[in-house]
Amino acid sequence: MPDLTLPPAPVLPGTTHLHSGKVRDLYRLDEGEHAGRLLMVASDRISAFDFVLDTPIPDKGEILTRMSLWWFDQLADLVPHHVVSTDVPDDVRGRAVVCRSLDMFPVECVARGYLTGSGLLDYRASGEVCGIALPDGLVDGSRLPEPIFTPATKAALGDHDENVSYDAVVATVGADDAATLRDLTLRVYARAERIARDRGIILADTKLEFGRDAGGGEIVLADEVLTPDSSRFWPADRWQPGRAQPSYDKQFVRDWLLSPASGWDRSSGEAPPPLPDDVVAQTRAKYVEAYERLTGEAW
Ligand SMILES: Nc1ncnc2c1ncn2[C@@H]1O[C@H](COP(=O)(O)OP(=O)(O)OP(=O)(O)O)[C@@H](O)[C@H]1O
Ligand SMILES: [Mg+2]
Repeated sequence: MPDLTLPPAPVLPGTTHLHSGKVRDLYRLDEGEHAGRLLMVASDRISAFDFVLDTPIPDKGEILTRMSLWWFDQLADLVPHHVVSTDVPDDVRGRAVVCRSLDMFPVECVARGYLTGSGLLDYRASGEVCGIALPDGLVDGSRLPEPIFTPATKAALGDHDENVSYDAVVATVGADDAATLRDLTLRVYARAERIARDRGIILADTKLEFGRDAGGGEIVLADEVLTPDSSRFWPADRWQPGRAQPSYDKQFVRDWLLSPASGWDRSSGEAPPPLPDDVVAQTRAKYVEAYERLTGEAW
């Protein structure tokens, strides 16, 4: 497991820092109108090959936060979401949201409409993904006969999530909630896939997280949604099954890190080097382009 050292989370008055992931910092609000709620802050950190890189991508946190908010709106009639307010401390304005503090289901709810990544690896090994048998002859980037629910268990920081069967989800959360999670995940995927497709983008797969209030009640869509960090977006006009697809996310970063120019050997276990300015600029431009194409709004 690679060494994951994160920069210290910024200290925000009136909050308690709870958790930092590769990209986001989570706080509890201790005072004011939203006391008891959570503050989720998206940093400009970028991860690749399970490392958090030393070089931030300017505006990434704000772009992903705005994209997520836009999607929550698009999905509002399908599922309630956790965002309460975007009125946040000045230091994190634009890249943070106030949200309901939920008991999270310990399941990464993944929907896939196309085969790639860990799904492709599982398919090559067994002909199945998460216990779902798929037809023969599929290749990297193939469109699946229909979208499938491929849950995973959340790994600790720096570890890979592990794909699990639907039965494992039933065993963890019970049959009723498992069925609801699957149904909601596939409905969100279907809606988002159509919206993205209308804008020339293939939503190959996406990961959702759900929770519910401590007292029980409805299941709520949480975390970030349908961002390039949680999903695979491919330009539709360049889709060509049988190879890795160009994508709207860390393509430039990954390509550069694997190129001789970086001098980095992925198998060494060493942390990757800082990114050069042009790779940072190209990557930022990709995130902006994804935002603009999806939302139709200028960044
Ligand atoms: N409304 C919510 N209530 C409680 N927890 C939430 C809510 N929304 C998201 N979370 C949790 O907040 C955390 C967000 O942190 P983040 O995604 O940065 O870290 P991570 O998932 O632990 O690690 P990584 O994504 O780097 O693998 C996740 O653990 C997620 O489950
Ligand atoms: Mg996460």
